[in-house]
Amino acid sequence: MTDAWLDIGALDDIPRRGARVVKTRHGCVALFRTAEDRVFAIDDRCPHKGGPLSEGIVHGNAVTCPLHNWVFSLETGMAQGADSGAVATYPAEVQQGRILLDCARLIAGRAA
Ligand code: FES
Repeated sequence: MTDAWLDIGALDDIPRRGARVVKTRHGCVALFRTAEDRVFAIDDRCPHKGGPLSEGIVHGNAVTCPLHNWVFSLETGMAQGADSGAVATYPAEVQQGRILLDCARLIAGRAA
């Protein structure tokens, strides 16, 4: 693990199928907790028209944008179904009940 991993907070701070926004110098990252207690981090900006993905509905390992209902995989960031596009994803994991976010990609310029 590199020094770029940041402790974001407790897993229990995010409700199941909920999200939390982490504001960084490089933009807002949405952290999602699935019903199975998996954690994913993606840009909090829909590539369609900028909708706040953190306010979307989490289902399985995907989120539906609250503005026009595009669905994105939380694992790959890819739009699902007939829609095309992708949102940047960032490594995140849970250790001992704490959420860790790898900021190396954020710092490197958000290339996903
Ligand atoms: S802004 Fe997200 S689907 Fe349109």
